[in-house]
Amino acid sequence: MKAWQDIGFEIEITGDGSPSLRLLASVDPLKDKGESMHHSGGAAAETNLIYGEPIAEILAKITKPKFLVVGLGLGYIEMVIARESLLAKRNAEDIASIASYESVPELREFFISWLQNQELHPEVKSTYDLVLEHVLKGSGVSAADVKSFLLVHFPEVRAVHGALYPEIAMEDQYHCILYDAFSSKTSPFLWEEDFLRRILKEGSAESSVLATYACKGSLKRALKDQGFEVIVREGFQGKRNSTQGRRQFPKM
Ligand SMILES: C[S@@+](CC[C@H](N)C(=O)[O-])C[C@H]1O[C@@H](n2cnc3c(N)ncnc32)[C@H](O)[C@@H]1O
Repeated sequence: MKAWQDIGFEIEITGDGSPSLRLLASVDPLKDKGESMHHSGGAAAETNLIYGEPIAEILAKITKPKFLVVGLGLGYIEMVIARESLLAKRNAEDIASIASYESVPELREFFISWLQNQELHPEVKSTYDLVLEHVLKGSGVSAADVKSFLLVHFPEVRAVHGALYPEIAMEDQYHCILYDAFSSKTSPFLWEEDFLRRILKEGSAESSVLATYACKGSLKRALKDQGFEVIVREGFQGKRNSTQGRRQFPKM
């Protein structure tokens, strides 16, 4: 059974006690390790701050919402979608779809095996358990309910999409785009203006919101070009700004 190290990651416990994964290999020759998936101040707290609110808002406003997640990573965003849905008294069938993209095959496989309670390396299993524990802290939602919810949307490994690539055609139009790619240093094309413009043009519903931890000129230009209002928000722990784009979206 593979541990994190076998697939090129190491586990890192962030400031709020929740786990993240760091790439062992760096694209920067001056650094001995690669990028972490989350802010060192708190993976769960950052996910809640950047993605929790737009997810809750979409659930309040759209009857059968479609979610797009780039990328799956440890599944924080998917677990937050499940938590917020359950808090809003929506069951898995009330969500039209959750399309999650992830380029690392083992991250797709591990996530599904964990949902299915299949055997995993103990380090890997305990990481997902800890992620869920932090996502659910204080919510009153049970881990079993979140797993059952997610199994409806992710019954098998094939239900998680592979990598987004430059020429990819979007398969659907989403109401809520949760854009959580690695930075442009690690994943350059995912932040190129032409790519983002096309993803938005093909992949967003008329009424839609995009949320991301990043605040890049290319993203803001692509959002404006596609008719989104750009809202620059405070970033997690004041370190950097984050961005939301909203189009034809009723105010709460
Ligand atoms: C910042 S992490 C995402 C963290 C994740 N949302 C979570 O909740 O744990 C970025 C993820 O994007 C994945 N990724 C990198 N390139 C990708 C691509 N071209 N398409 C889809 N996913 C990609 C990485 O493997 C990594 O898991």
